[in-house]
Amino acid sequence: MIPILTTQDLVNKLTQQSPQRPYFAMYSSIYGGITLDPAWMLLPIDDHMVHRGDGVFEAIKFVGAKIYLLRPHLERLLRSALSLGLRPFAEITKLEEILQATVSASGQQSGLIRVFMSRGPGSFSVSPYDTIGTQFFVIVTALTPPSAEKFAQGVSIGRSKIPVKSSWMAQVKSCNYLPNVMMKKEAVDRGLDFVVGFDEQGYLAESATENIVILTAENKLVRPEFQNILSGTTMIRSFELAESLLQQGIIAAIGSQNISSVDIENAKEIMMLGTTLDVLPVVTYEGKKTGNGKVGPVAQALLRLLKKDQDQA
Ligand SMILES: Cc1ncc(COP(=O)(O)O)c(C=O)c1O
Repeated sequence: MIPILTTQDLVNKLTQQSPQRPYFAMYSSIYGGITLDPAWMLLPIDDHMVHRGDGVFEAIKFVGAKIYLLRPHLERLLRSALSLGLRPFAEITKLEEILQATVSASGQQSGLIRVFMSRGPGSFSVSPYDTIGTQFFVIVTALTPPSAEKFAQGVSIGRSKIPVKSSWMAQVKSCNYLPNVMMKKEAVDRGLDFVVGFDEQGYLAESATENIVILTAENKLVRPEFQNILSGTTMIRSFELAESLLQQGIIAAIGSQNISSVDIENAKEIMMLGTTLDVLPVVTYEGKKTGNGKVGPVAQALLRLLKKDQDQA
């Protein structure tokens, strides 16, 4: 028999769960405050973010209790919301205050903040007008970067068969991430670290939740044009920091271009960039060595610059 539970039964069940999950603090606009109890880090099932993917999100790192690239992340969150006609939950300064308060309540010195702005609860319909209004959720979790071995030995990548998103969708960090999920599945199923997508013209786009850049045979550090990718905060910041490598003559130029699979095969170095991994060197593409098949000096230099930037932020 399937029991009908009382509210007290539910409270007992939730609080008896062993809180194994490394979730340290959650702000919920539904609660109007922060909870430290993972058992209560919950979302209403009729929030359209749950049943339609109608919401936008960000993943932001904090290091030494300081939130790294906070403004660029929140600006992108608001840009994503604008693209969906989602009324912002609050002004950017208020959002910042909520994030700072949640990190501070977590008691953690470093970790990952997951931020969600949802269409809100109110119905199970597809209509975005059928809710009580935008909601905001912030959850502070442990950060699980790739292993030290991946940074030391480099990673393997392949070409994805999953069609890339349309330009509009690629530029919105929405909770509608099924193509990205399928890319991750494809990578895991093929025993690769990452797969990367190519657009209809055959140009490089991005990975499931990472940007990808190359050091060309001519020593130019280049990223794909923005039309089919998310404008990654790590990639943008790394390219700013790479100016110092240009001045030292370590690289010959920095820029953006359409990148073909031939460019990738001829690249001296390939790098994956993103919030959780910073800069991860690629050593094989579709089983073929990238450059000399070893971790490249530019990837290492960029990683050092990014780490220093995080420590100084
Ligand atoms: C599709 C996609 N591309 C690139 C990135 C990298 O962006 P960022 O460096 O801001 O983490 C992400 C981040 O999660 C992403 O989801």
